[in-house]
Amino acid sequence: MSDRTLAPLGRRRLRVSGRRRLGAYVVLSVADPDGPAPDPGQFAMLAAAERWGGGADERPFLPRAFSVARRHGDGTLDFVLEDVGPGTERLGELDAGDAVWLLGPLGRGFAPPRSGRRPVLVGGGVGIAPLMIWQDALGGEAVALLGFRDAAHAEGAALLPGARVATDDGSVGHHGLVTELLAGALAGAEVYACGPPPMLEAVRALCAEHDVPAQLALESGMACGFGACFGCVVPTRDGYVRLCVDGPVLEARTLETIA
Ligand SMILES: Cc1cc2nc3c(=O)[nH]c(=O)nc-3n(C[C@H](O)[C@H](O)[C@H](O)COP(=O)(O)OP(=O)(O)OC[C@H]3O[C@@H](n4cnc5c(N)ncnc54)[C@H](O)[C@@H]3O)c2cc1C
Ligand code: FES
Repeated sequence: MSDRTLAPLGRRRLRVSGRRRLGAYVVLSVADPDGPAPDPGQFAMLAAAERWGGGADERPFLPRAFSVARRHGDGTLDFVLEDVGPGTERLGELDAGDAVWLLGPLGRGFAPPRSGRRPVLVGGGVGIAPLMIWQDALGGEAVALLGFRDAAHAEGAALLPGARVATDDGSVGHHGLVTELLAGALAGAEVYACGPPPMLEAVRALCAEHDVPAQLALESGMACGFGACFGCVVPTRDGYVRLCVDGPVLEARTLETIA
């Protein structure tokens, strides 16, 4: 008996079925009709089938980790990409008909809220991705509080219906940090957060101070995604864990701090 959805053995060659730009992000849709339904919070390792290293003009790439952002009824998986380097740039230029290699779903996702607790989703930047599929699973009832750098990034908020937005530059919504919105929503909450490390650390500290349970979707560099390389280890109060198999979602109380 497993406590997570297990990936089929080996990577699958799949077709990109759509691509759309949303402000600073690209939403990439991949047809995976025969793949298992991922648990919210799980991720996949993605690589473009063409021009992904090996040729004279190409940098050799390892696959890159991406949260499954949404699963549609026909098995289509959505991913939300932010271009931060060569891997995300190459994946972000793929279009309908192109092929990708996908390994997944991988890792452990979010656990349901404890009895009597109200789910509050807190996202920062592209960290909104795993909260989309979690909001879908929760039936759209969960409050979503999202923080972005500026108006172009805040366009991503359209992916989570009813979200309250904060921006660093005040161009959209609350002028300030998403944790300032969270401070007013803690009573009776169970917090689910994903975003950059300083945001997650602020969420962890705030929830610890108010004795509010929180589940945090963390990131670290991942070379394999299935426990073999130990490249993704993070320290917890119980010792080091491999984020790709023991996470990426960890209970906040198991973490001393997030660096
Ligand atoms: C479980 C998991 C889920 C993720 N989900 C998403 C997602 O939904 N959408 C998305 O756009 N990205 C996501 N990422 C991050 C994504 O994997 C990296 O941005 C990507 O690997 C960068 O590859 P690159 O070749 O474009 O850039 P690189 O050249 O590899 O890196 C560019 C810059 O980003 C930094 N960086 C790279 N990877 C990470 C990381 N994992 N954590 C922190 N800093 C990093 C590098 O140090 C460098 O400064 C996720 C990562 C993990 C581990
Ligand atoms: S990414 Fe290789 S062990 Fe986690």
